[in-house]
Amino acid sequence: MVLGVSGGIAAYKAVEVCRRLFDAGAYVSPVLTPAALRFVGAVTFSAVASEPARTALWDDPDPIPHTRLGQSADLVVVAPATADLLARYAAGMADDLLTATLLATRAPVLVCPAMHTEMWEHPSVQDNLATLRRRGVHVLEPASGRLAGGDVGTGRLAEPADIVSAAAGVLGRSGPGLDLAGRRVLVTAGGTREAIDPVRVITNRSSGKQGYALAERASRRGAEVVLVTTVERPTPPGVEVVRVVSAADMEEAVVPRAADMDVVIMAAAVADFRPKAVADHKIKKGDGLPEIILEPTHDFLEDLGRHKPSGQVLVGFAAETEAVEDNARQKLTRKRLDLIVANDVSAEGVGFEHDTNSVVILGSDGSRSEVPLTTKEAAADAVLDAVSHRLRAGQRSSRSPEEPTGSRSS
Ligand code: CTP
Repeated sequence: MVLGVSGGIAAYKAVEVCRRLFDAGAYVSPVLTPAALRFVGAVTFSAVASEPARTALWDDPDPIPHTRLGQSADLVVVAPATADLLARYAAGMADDLLTATLLATRAPVLVCPAMHTEMWEHPSVQDNLATLRRRGVHVLEPASGRLAGGDVGTGRLAEPADIVSAAAGVLGRSGPGLDLAGRRVLVTAGGTREAIDPVRVITNRSSGKQGYALAERASRRGAEVVLVTTVERPTPPGVEVVRVVSAADMEEAVVPRAADMDVVIMAAAVADFRPKAVADHKIKKGDGLPEIILEPTHDFLEDLGRHKPSGQVLVGFAAETEAVEDNARQKLTRKRLDLIVANDVSAEGVGFEHDTNSVVILGSDGSRSEVPLTTKEAAADAVLDAVSHRLRAGQRSSRSPEEPTGSRSS
């Protein structure tokens, strides 16, 4: 992938784009225009990309760097694309390495414009974009927000995560292993902790490993992933992590985000009961045996099932110790899920705290697939295979993977 960077203040954000593309598994070759070098250093990109950043047509060891880059790229992303870069690209100029590469390539191109609102709205910029769109160039439109110099308006470079997601979406048509490109996926992980007093909690044995594996694999497969977790583990590349403690916190983090998601996977072991009253101070031994009255927590997966947007794939987990499939199927129906992942946590090497898992994935369409004892990463891939199948099987998505995010409004 060639990441072209032209000379605007948003060039600093392109460093994050570069890192995220690399983390998502892309081989990234950065190309900076001379104007970009006034905002950011080539070394910064070299440090986070797959190969050193290139900045000129002439001083490269390769006599024809533009044709080599253009021919070998699967995708060229230009972020930020300034008004000047768009004009030169639309006019077919090749006066620096980036524009020469853009002319030399037959790979799909995604441009991510960023400039001041007045420039963005200027007819010449809009005409150039219309020309580029007509030629098949993908455009991820700028967002509204704070601009250089404290101004506010349209022209702000799209967020790095959105750029990566749009890039994956463009590649999704032909890119191998990117079947979740352009999809937004929310995963929950870990056991919730319900306070008894400021010191003590009621919790469960969930380690969060399966949820983290799901988040990591979904991100690798091109999805934009939010992981809501109660446990602290190394953050999987490209994944946005939201930390929570209790079932109520998890609900607060998950429910408002769920409506925008293509996929919600509730791998967390959410407490079913919590102490009715939380003592303000540590309960002292000397006061005798405390009586802890429990109350039910709210089953928000049931709510998510009830309010599921059309096209969303909703996945629950069922950790059981008996009548595993019967219990899981009942939950699948009661909570209006598309898929449920059932595991017998009393079996050897399965579920909580282990690095391995053995699951049965049941679908609301009657499908059933068994995953014998394997790593949690492989179990995650099996779950995501089922999710991907459901997404493809005619479930209308809120955002088509064939279409980069920004082109919706274009
Ligand atoms: N879940 C939830 N909110 C709760 C309890 C559970 O969202 N308060 C979700 C879990 O994340 C899981 C699914 O519901 O994906 C099934 O959880 P589980 O505890 O196995 O099922 P319950 O319906 O609570 O039934 P039981 O505990 O009686 O087996």
